[in-house]
Amino acid sequence: MKIAISGKGGVGKTILAALLSKTFAEFDYSVLAIDADPDANLAATLGFPEPEKITPISEMKDLIEERTGVQPGKTAPFFKLNPKVDDIPEKYAVERNGIKLMVMGRMKRGGSGCYCPESALLQALVTHLLLARDEVVILDMEAGIEHLGRATARAVDKLIIVVEPSRRAIETAYRISKLTQDIGLPNVTVVGNKIRNQSEKEFIISSLPGFEFLGFIPYDQALVEADLANLPLLDASRQITSEVKNIYHVLLSTAVAKVEKFG
Ligand SMILES: Nc1ncnc2c1ncn2[C@@H]1O[C@H](COP(=O)(O)OP(=O)(O)OP(=O)(O)O)[C@@H](O)[C@H]1O
Ligand SMILES: [Mg+2]
Repeated sequence: MKIAISGKGGVGKTILAALLSKTFAEFDYSVLAIDADPDANLAATLGFPEPEKITPISEMKDLIEERTGVQPGKTAPFFKLNPKVDDIPEKYAVERNGIKLMVMGRMKRGGSGCYCPESALLQALVTHLLLARDEVVILDMEAGIEHLGRATARAVDKLIIVVEPSRRAIETAYRISKLTQDIGLPNVTVVGNKIRNQSEKEFIISSLPGFEFLGFIPYDQALVEADLANLPLLDASRQITSEVKNIYHVLLSTAVAKVEKFG
């Protein structure tokens, strides 16, 4: 199962990516978590020691040059659009508690589409990770999905849009959902997060008619306090962990239903 997680800034994408990774790993799935947010903090959320020491792929200048034929930061008329990437996960993923992690880093962007070597390598790598790897892949993304190329988007089985009870989060959900239609990403589902009461849950449901919901995660002050005290986030809230477990079961049941339907 290849899951991508998007949504407005600060809605809880990374905590969901981390807790889902943990849950799949606890159920003995082999999990690859990918931090595709330039402002990366999945490693820290997953509890990797010294996360700042993990070098993002986009900063591996020699690797980028070796694989694309062009030095990062340079524009060149030609470079390999299909660089070799299949050995990169084994060499550069870090692992902890059954979860492998790759940090992609910041892609340079230019105008409507960027043809710089680092983004060629990152696109090829993410697409490879989604298509070729026989494991659960969980992609923690930045707020938009614009940077997901078509090939990458098509390799995603499920896009989870995280929303919190706010108009802006809902607007972002609509914007992302519109983009999924443009780039051909079919399976979109919503997780409501930071829910304090029934009326907040109803606000989200009534604001997003026609959307499929995967679950609703309660707001828990314990998570905020753990964050402020620099304590491990994954074990901070039993309520949140238990709802993510429900979400895991719903995800699995939809995957099983798909296999039964399409063989
Ligand atoms: N259910 C919740 N209850 C309380 N606090 C939460 C909850 N979910 C997330 N938070 C807090 O909200 C903040 C943002 O969460 P997180 O980093 O997971 O969001 P994000 O969508 O990945 O943000 P960004 O767009 O910056 O990457 C964090 O401080 C996190 O601890
Ligand atoms: Mg995040």
